[in-house]
Amino acid sequence: DTDFEYRDGALHIEQLSASALAERFGTPLYVYSRAALTRAYEAYAQACAGRHATVHYAIKANSNLAILNVFARLGAGFDIVSRGELARVLAAGGRADQVVFSGVGKTADEMRFALETGVKCFNVESIPELARLQDVAAAAGKRAPVSLRVNPDVDAKTHPYISTGLKGNKFGIAFHEARAAYRSAAAMPNLDVVGIDCHIGSQITEVMPYLDALDKLIELVTAIEGDGARIAHIDVGGGLGIRYDDETPPEIGMFVTKLLDHLAERGQGHREVVFEPGRSLVGNAGVLLTRIEYLKPGETKNFAIVDAAMNDLARPAMYQAYHAIDAVVRRDVAPSVYDVVGPVCESGDWLGRDRTLAVAAGDLLAVGSAGAYGFAMSSNYNTRTRAAEVLVDGDHVHLARQRETVEALFANERILER
Ligand code: LLP
Repeated sequence: DTDFEYRDGALHIEQLSASALAERFGTPLYVYSRAALTRAYEAYAQACAGRHATVHYAIKANSNLAILNVFARLGAGFDIVSRGELARVLAAGGRADQVVFSGVGKTADEMRFALETGVKCFNVESIPELARLQDVAAAAGKRAPVSLRVNPDVDAKTHPYISTGLKGNKFGIAFHEARAAYRSAAAMPNLDVVGIDCHIGSQITEVMPYLDALDKLIELVTAIEGDGARIAHIDVGGGLGIRYDDETPPEIGMFVTKLLDHLAERGQGHREVVFEPGRSLVGNAGVLLTRIEYLKPGETKNFAIVDAAMNDLARPAMYQAYHAIDAVVRRDVAPSVYDVVGPVCESGDWLGRDRTLAVAAGDLLAVGSAGAYGFAMSSNYNTRTRAAEVLVDGDHVHLARQRETVEALFANERILER
C-alpha cells in the first residue's frame, strides 16, 4: 500500500514523514491518507458504475467532518444512525437525499429532524418503530420513505460482538415476521415503502454469507411484491472486512461485482442496490501514532508503555482485536518482545500483545488499520483529552481535529453552589 510506506527506514504517509507529523501535532495522533480514502471509495464507485448501485458511507466508522467531506466531494451517500450523525453529514457538505437512516432506537425527535431534512430512506427495524414513524410523519404532514431491515438469519462468521444477522440479536425484523410487517407498513398512510434492507455483520471476509442473505431477501421481495408493495431498492448493508493481519477479504471491486451479478442472475437487476460500507472505506486509510514513554522489562513480560490508550483505540480492549504495530523509524537496536500498553488504570488497556519490536524509550510507534472505529469510539476515560486527527494529501497536511483541551472536557460541569 503505497500511501503508508517506509522510505529510508522511516514511515511516510503519502509524501510526509510520520515523525515530522508527530513532532508538529504531538501524539497520540490519528493520521489519514486522502489518497487511500479516495482509492477505497473509487473501488466501490467503479464497480457500481453503470449498474444502478450506490455507496452510502456508514459514518459511524469515522465521522470526522474532513473525512465526510472527502467522500461528499466524491459523490458518496451516507448511512447514519443518529441525529448527530445527520448533522455531521450536512455540516460536511453531504446531501440529505442521499442519506439512509439506520438504527434500532430512533427517537421521535430524530425522525422529525430526518423528515425535515428529507432523507432518502428510513431503515426501520421493528413494528413499533413503524408506528412511531407513521405518527411523526402524519404530524409533520409528510410521507416517510421506508425500508424494513430484515434479519436474514445467516452466519457471517465474524466476531460475536459484531455479527448482527443471526436470530437472537437485537437487530432487524425476524425473517418470518417480515411479510406481515410490510403489510402493516403498506397500511400506514404516511409511509412509502421503497426498499428492503439487511446488514449481517462486520469484518466479514467471505462473499458467501452475503449471497445467502441476498437469496433470502429475494424470496421475501417476491412475496412482498405479490402482496402489492414495490421494492425499488435492496440495501445489502455494510460489513466487508479489511486486512488487519493475515485476513484475506475479497477486494472491494470483486465483492461488489459478485453481489450485483448474483442479483442480476436472479432477475433482480432492475433494482437499485445500496451498499453501506464503513470499515472497508476508511480502516486501512489511517494509522495511530503514539510515543513510547517507558520500556518496562519484567520477569514474564516486557511492557512498552505508550501515550495512546484504550480510550484512544478501544478495539483491542473491547474485541481483543489485532492491529499491526511497527516502529515509525527502523533502528538498529536488539529486538525484544513487548506488550504494548497504555497509561489507563485497567489491565485491559493494551494495544498489542507479544509484539517483537526494535525500539527504545522515546521512539514512535504506528498502530495500523486505525482509520475505522478508532477515533470514532474514543472516549475521555481517565480525563484524557482525545487525540488530534490530521488528513494528509500529497505533501500537504490538514488538521482535521485539533487535540482536545482539559478545560473543554469539564466545561459543561459545575461545582456545587452551597
Ligand atoms: N450498516 C449498518 C446498519 C451497521 O450497523 C454497520 C456497522 C455498517 C453499515 C457498517 O459496517 P462496516 O462496513 O463498517 O463493517 N465497532 C466494531 C464494528 C461495529 C459495526 C457496527 N455496525 C469494530 O470496531 O469492529
